[in-house]
Amino acid sequence: MSSFRNLDDLGDDLGDLTGKVALVRVDLNLPMQDGAVTDDTRVRAAMPTILELADKGAKVLLLAHFGRPKGARNSEQSLSMVVGAVQDVLGREVMFVPEVAGEIVAQAVGILGPGDIAILENTRFWPGEEKNDPELARAIAANGDFYVNDAFSAAHRAHATTEGLAHLLPAYAGRSMQAELEALDKALGKPERPVAAVVGGAKVSSKLDVLKHLVSLVDHLIIGGGMANTFLAARGVDVGKSLCEYDLAATVEQILDAADKAGCTVHLPYDVVVAKEFAANPASLRICNVHEVAADEMILDVGPQATEALADVLKTCRTLVWNGPMGAFETEPFDTATVALARTAAALTREGSLVSVAGGGDTVAALNHAGVAGDFSYISTAGGAFLEWMEGRELPGVVALQR
Ligand code: 3PG
Repeated sequence: MSSFRNLDDLGDDLGDLTGKVALVRVDLNLPMQDGAVTDDTRVRAAMPTILELADKGAKVLLLAHFGRPKGARNSEQSLSMVVGAVQDVLGREVMFVPEVAGEIVAQAVGILGPGDIAILENTRFWPGEEKNDPELARAIAANGDFYVNDAFSAAHRAHATTEGLAHLLPAYAGRSMQAELEALDKALGKPERPVAAVVGGAKVSSKLDVLKHLVSLVDHLIIGGGMANTFLAARGVDVGKSLCEYDLAATVEQILDAADKAGCTVHLPYDVVVAKEFAANPASLRICNVHEVAADEMILDVGPQATEALADVLKTCRTLVWNGPMGAFETEPFDTATVALARTAAALTREGSLVSVAGGGDTVAALNHAGVAGDFSYISTAGGAFLEWMEGRELPGVVALQR
């Protein structure tokens, strides 16, 4: 039995759902440009839950935030803007309700029939949302019969609609939340060993807690991106004019010591791709040993030999957690190591020898760029929540759902 109630428990707990009001927290914090949604991944992630509830006859009220409006209403951040995109994904009509609680919502519930779907206004227009104000949570709960949280990517926030509501109504993990929690448990909770973690991206400072936590959990820690420069510099390597956080040398030493004690092998590149300027296919591009970087060069990707060695490490592993690119992957050819390693992980996953879980910020973009996102065992739609999970922190929205 899972430690969370999920939609399978609804029948036993609540009986027939026809006409019952489901308050469903989803993440509709979607990327937008000129008023149009540019990526509907998060809507697609929430779709199974929304349709399952609607098809069981519930009236589905979607709760979500958009941006950071700081407790005040404004027309640029109204969730009315995403209604069209949600309708397109669901293939159903969706009503918009410009409130989250009170009489207007009660009237909307009266108008909706069993199986109908509505989006309530941006929860962060009310100051009580981010304060997790019990009064706001109670007012929202008053219009619902049960609560479903399908927004793992907002679960690191202890807000009224991500945490508070779970204490006021029968609370369930939605399908996407459930899949996320099961995948994360397989990756770091009870993983098959050996476990590798790939951690890349620009700055060590943004992922210090991730690194500290991972060294005690994984067998191989593969460091790439600008972060690797900080590790190399701490080890006495001259990284030229590479992006580097020199002030973190002592912290890096502590992480390396902790890894050593825990039996975790830290992999840093030993050959690198360098250039004098950061541009696509620059004339100054060359591959060299890390000890041969010139004073006017910067490291922009992991080199081919190290990439091959890292692929060999992955081949010995049963589980992989991936966060962050290995190089400056948006600019060719500095996407080479990221693409190669991602393809190795994808091939091993397809063969069934590796469980691969990836998430956070640039990671999904990098794996999409490599054309392998569909081949990973699980790709998280979460940014900050995925990182906090990698830091080993308890996520309030998840804790509140526990049995
Ligand atoms: C996200 O986009 O990662 C989530 O929706 C959380 O948004 P927030 O960082 O504004 O809380």
